[in-house]
Amino acid sequence: MTDNLNHEIFWQVHRDLPREAPGSDASTLRALSMLPGLPASARILDIGCGPGAQSVALARATQADVTAADTHQPFLDDLARRAAQAGVAERVHPLNASMFDLNFDQPFDLLWSEGAIYIIGFERGLREWRKLLKPGGFVAVTEISWLKPNPPESARKFWGKAYPGMATVEENLAHLASAGYRSLGHFTLPESDWWDNYYHPMAVRIKSLREKYPNNPEAQAVLDLEYAEIELYRQYSAWYGYVFYIGQA
Ligand SMILES: C[S@@+](CC[C@H](N)C(=O)[O-])C[C@H]1O[C@@H](n2cnc3c(N)ncnc32)[C@H](O)[C@@H]1O
Repeated sequence: MTDNLNHEIFWQVHRDLPREAPGSDASTLRALSMLPGLPASARILDIGCGPGAQSVALARATQADVTAADTHQPFLDDLARRAAQAGVAERVHPLNASMFDLNFDQPFDLLWSEGAIYIIGFERGLREWRKLLKPGGFVAVTEISWLKPNPPESARKFWGKAYPGMATVEENLAHLASAGYRSLGHFTLPESDWWDNYYHPMAVRIKSLREKYPNNPEAQAVLDLEYAEIELYRQYSAWYGYVFYIGQA
């Protein structure tokens, strides 16, 4: 399979989705409500913001200034459009920057990251990003996590390959503490957060791409892989999920 085709089909599946990971405005706002004493005009950094549904939700729910960092410029352009549509463009600042190399002159009150910290690794991200926070500042991140012991072999095999660092909720709470944060609580995202804004629109996209590339086995193989992830969750959602972890430095 050529890397170019792989890449092209991947982006055709993923472009213009409501979100690029499980989540919803309701879960974003629930996590926000768990931060006691966040200043009204806080400085927020949203890391791996993608097209920025959560960046816009945060800006709408607060008077905060939201810097939204990602390395994929089309997502940042999409975020700028969404922020303008929502009337919060003045307080949402898309920034092309890597989560591996974040440096700012002023510290933040809150670090946010939905469905993206896995890229750097949960504990490493929390530890390295802490320098960007004011003393007593907050962190709120979602991370795919094992929800119960002894997951079925096919789920363990798939995620063992796709994300070998995937840990249990208890292990992640221990990582949060060892990275220097006091836990303020955690909750599992509802299954609707996977379907409504992510897997359902993705499945529709996959179906139309199958029709677009009917005689292209390479393209169909990429689509098979994307669809396998969706089917795996349909079968095994009791064993793994996205968990919001909320902490204070
Ligand atoms: C699974 S998506 C989640 C996006 C968004 N937070 C959401 O929930 O819709 C992960 C995001 O991380 C971004 N990303 C990948 N590598 C990155 C890096 N080194 N630094 C910052 N963002 C990165 C991708 O472009 C993508 O937007």
